[in-house]
Amino acid sequence: MKILVTGGAGFIGSAVVRLAVARGHYVVNLDALTYAACLENVASVADSPLYAFAQADIRDRASLDRVFASHQPDAVMHLAAESHVDRSIDGPGDFISTNVTGTYTLLEAARSYWQDSGRPESFRFHHISTDEVFGSLGPEGQFTETTPYDPRSPYSASKAASDHLVQAWHHTYGLPVVMTNCSNNYGPFHFPEKLIPVIILNALAGKPLPIYGDGSNVRDWLYVEDHADALLLVLEKGALGRSYNIGGENERSNLELVRTLCAILDEKQPKASGSYADQITFVTDRPGHDARYAIDPARIRQELGWRPSVTVEEGLARTVDWYLANTDWWRPLQARQGVGQRLGVKA
Ligand SMILES: NC(=O)c1ccc[n+]([C@@H]2O[C@H](COP(=O)([O-])OP(=O)(O)OC[C@H]3O[C@@H](n4cnc5c(N)ncnc54)[C@H](O)[C@@H]3O)[C@@H](O)[C@H]2O)c1
Repeated sequence: MKILVTGGAGFIGSAVVRLAVARGHYVVNLDALTYAACLENVASVADSPLYAFAQADIRDRASLDRVFASHQPDAVMHLAAESHVDRSIDGPGDFISTNVTGTYTLLEAARSYWQDSGRPESFRFHHISTDEVFGSLGPEGQFTETTPYDPRSPYSASKAASDHLVQAWHHTYGLPVVMTNCSNNYGPFHFPEKLIPVIILNALAGKPLPIYGDGSNVRDWLYVEDHADALLLVLEKGALGRSYNIGGENERSNLELVRTLCAILDEKQPKASGSYADQITFVTDRPGHDARYAIDPARIRQELGWRPSVTVEEGLARTVDWYLANTDWWRPLQARQGVGQRLGVKA
């Protein structure tokens, strides 16, 4: 299959690109190369005859039309987005522009291309979204695909809007879409402004390990390579117009997660004295910080037979190994704008 992946120089998109090429798909990676992008993420496939890169912005219709016309993809996997909740609190405009207007522009470009190609039923537009659109859970319950939308941050509101646009383009124009909403990803190539890399890199640098609020917020952690596998399965086997929740079946509070990371680091790279957990520091909470996300994985398990393959302990150990071995990847990214600073406390 020839797949146009948007956001393929980002964290999850690059995992999709690497896996899709490894499975023999032809991949066109379309990315605007924002602060969050890193072409090193796809260096392992850059010379493959199955790989092409197009620098383009999903808000730029003319560029999108050119990419569709020259590559003639069989499917689109749409991951390009502004993705960091803290940045969305300080500057929501970029999130509305890319996540809402950009998704609209991409949908229109995909619709024209699909209509001009004779509306092939086999075409797919796969929209990748987040469980954050469902809002915040109490101690019990899980998000299903029919949980009402209740986004609470500028980021999740912009993603919710994009999900609605994709549904509308399916129902109104018949565009063949599939959708997924996943939980928090982690793993290799995770940009060093997100919780897990921040903890690993601050620990190694002897800096405080910042935990928002009291650390009781719960997330369901999904290893990025498991996620990429689920995404390709949904693309190939998902029912038209249907959405699938993808979770890691690994719920942990932020404090539990950070303590586990510290224990792994204590074993792999022991400090001269004491534990990395001694560096844990509680900081002012994120405004509107959702208490708990949890995914009910029944639909994707029963209909497509998919389950995550790694536990969070295995995935975190692999992730720590990767960061220890890839200093050359993460060090330059720490110099990018805003990285290493506390963002999203202005509200
Ligand atoms: N990371 C997570 O835990 C998580 C969880 C659920 C859903 N998601 C969703 O998965 C997708 C990928 O997330 P990620 O963590 O890999 O994000 P990321 O921030 O690491 O990567 C986003 C990529 O999109 C590109 N991009 C941004 N704006 C663009 C534009 N206007 N035009 C073209 N390219 C643009 C960036 O250059 C970057 O390469 C997003 O849609 C996000 O909402 C992420």
